[in-house]
Amino acid sequence: LTRFPLIPIRGVPLMSIIANNFDSIWAFNPDPSDLLIATYPKAGTTWTQEIIDLLINNGDAEACRRAPTPVRSPFLEIHSPPPIPSGLDLLKKMDPPRIIKTHLPFQLVPQGFWENKCKAIYVARNAKDNMVSYYHFDRMNKTQPEPGPWDGYVHKFMQGQLGWGSWYDHVKGYWVEREKRNILYLFYEDMKENPARVVRTIMQYLDLSVSDEVIDRIVELTSFKNMKDNPMANYSCVPPEVFDMSISPFMRKGEVGDWKNYFTPEQLKMFDEDYEKQMKDVHIPFRSLI
Ligand code: A3P
Repeated sequence: LTRFPLIPIRGVPLMSIIANNFDSIWAFNPDPSDLLIATYPKAGTTWTQEIIDLLINNGDAEACRRAPTPVRSPFLEIHSPPPIPSGLDLLKKMDPPRIIKTHLPFQLVPQGFWENKCKAIYVARNAKDNMVSYYHFDRMNKTQPEPGPWDGYVHKFMQGQLGWGSWYDHVKGYWVEREKRNILYLFYEDMKENPARVVRTIMQYLDLSVSDEVIDRIVELTSFKNMKDNPMANYSCVPPEVFDMSISPFMRKGEVGDWKNYFTPEQLKMFDEDYEKQMKDVHIPFRSLI
């Protein structure tokens, strides 16, 4: 298997398999009923998708199992070579309303999503935990560029030299557009602190209505522990040549604050100073940074 190199598209480094297909991604025209889930990689995409699937199916896990794809909803962009099918190919075979995932930054999302007034949910995770999670993902995902040693990875993250580009630009890009585009902007840390509240927020945004009992069931079914054991959520469908879970499982730790186990005091100081600079133009209420 090859680890795809990064190729810049309008200044954003994307894996070559995505960059080389970018024109067809950009031309994708969604249906107004389609829902977009957008995230920087490792911010809680799979968790959010699971909650939404259960909300739509009124908490019925069996109904969710009948989903047309093993990990439920396709990504818009193509992440992996065959046998993993391309997101666009899968989408073309599905009838709307579809749930479509993407890691593309706001400016690279096909305009049709906004012209057609599609609903969109963005999930952001604090930079340090997001980076730790991405580091382990880059180790185990044999199609992503080699992460190299941790110290170098911290610099690459700060410079936006990872697949899908700069975390800072990503979280800010959706944040500044959220009101105009009616994007529901969620935080991973809020989901951890009070999952039931976030499930309700998503329910209201999607104009759904489920009972309190179903909310409780969804919270239980989407706990880290249950999702880790759920083949529809834990990516065990991906062949080991692509996701080597012996290096790091997809459902790795699912915690807030794991970054404390990685940063040296020097890295922390440098990172925090740089963070101030990169985030000073847009205030996003992240927690758990210190
Ligand atoms: P960690 O590597 O920190 O464990 P994505 O789905 O965007 O790729 O994000 C994956 C990250 O979300 C992983 O983080 C994974 O463990 C975490 N995650 C997935 N499901 C979760 C859940 N139900 N509760 C908490 N974290 C979850």
